[in-house]
Amino acid sequence: MKIIPINKAQYGMILALDVRDTTGKVILEKGTEMDEKIIYILKKAGIFNIPVKSTKVINNIAKESKKHSVISKENLDLNYKKVKEVFKNVEQTGHIDIDTVIDIASSIKNDIENNYSEKLFVPLKKLKDFDEYLYSHSLNVMIISSLLAVENGIIDDMLLNVSISALLHDIGKTQVPKEIMNAPRPLNEEEMNTMRNHVLFGKNLALQNNIKEIAIVSGIYEHHERVDGRGYLEGKTHDEISDFGKIIAIADVYDALTSVRSYKGPWTPYKTISFILTNVEKQFDGTFAQGLINAFGIYPAGTRVQLSNGKFGTVVASNRSNKIRPLIKIDHGDIVDLSEEKSLRIVKVLDYIYIE
Ligand SMILES: [Fe+2]
Ligand SMILES: [Fe+2]
Repeated sequence: MKIIPINKAQYGMILALDVRDTTGKVILEKGTEMDEKIIYILKKAGIFNIPVKSTKVINNIAKESKKHSVISKENLDLNYKKVKEVFKNVEQTGHIDIDTVIDIASSIKNDIENNYSEKLFVPLKKLKDFDEYLYSHSLNVMIISSLLAVENGIIDDMLLNVSISALLHDIGKTQVPKEIMNAPRPLNEEEMNTMRNHVLFGKNLALQNNIKEIAIVSGIYEHHERVDGRGYLEGKTHDEISDFGKIIAIADVYDALTSVRSYKGPWTPYKTISFILTNVEKQFDGTFAQGLINAFGIYPAGTRVQLSNGKFGTVVASNRSNKIRPLIKIDHGDIVDLSEEKSLRIVKVLDYIYIE
């Protein structure tokens, strides 16, 4: 059991104890499952904290998503461990174990090639531990970048190179002091410059470790450039930025915004997709951003929605050829594939995030 603030309450959580109002009257009994209506009732009753235990409902959703997962859970976990080893090694010695990097990239590439289908779920590693953010973020950016590459016809060795570049995109952060990296406050100008220099540190680390492929190094060096010239380090624009730089920029922002950081809560994937679409041709390249929509849909998995029949549900997978009609697990009901059930549509998106 854990006590959580009511604004962290989520669909599917189960009450671990009776919840009482200020007069001691039981408002909701132990064992009640949270949904949007119940959360609303509790907020209205002025309840600040609730005792919950974790949930079978979320497990059910995870099971449904798993059927369409582009990367197996086992591979995700195994590769996470390997990424962590590679990064810890770089932190301590400055040496990049390129064989393991290639091994991780090949494994993700194989899964993508074998499992890429019309109905798609993209699993990402999301952790609550800030210290390990760099490792999970690097793995996630590699997965997302690989999908954007595939969506844009990049295959074989070039796909492997995108994966390697994305995995190493923030490797320069291993040379930024931890106090700056994890500061739970805005950075001052000097600290900000050090932080921004991670792209240069990363490029140098790659070159020192004999990673000389220009495309890989450009992806590392240019992933904070923006097509309107407002990025860093050089303020490059459109054609001056390499394809790898443009791809990794999108994947990087998608993962960063949907993650918990020391200074912010996570955005919903839906809000994040909308943000990226709004900033196409300002910050992000339009063609590659389209790849993000193709892979995740407009309503990525995990999005809580209300349908035109009044029912609530959770998106479990996207339909690649019908981006506004994903697969939805209805609360306490079946899976509905909106690409087949044309009479139903999404009428509302709830600003809602899973904490697993
Ligand atoms: Fe970065
Ligand atoms: Fe990053």
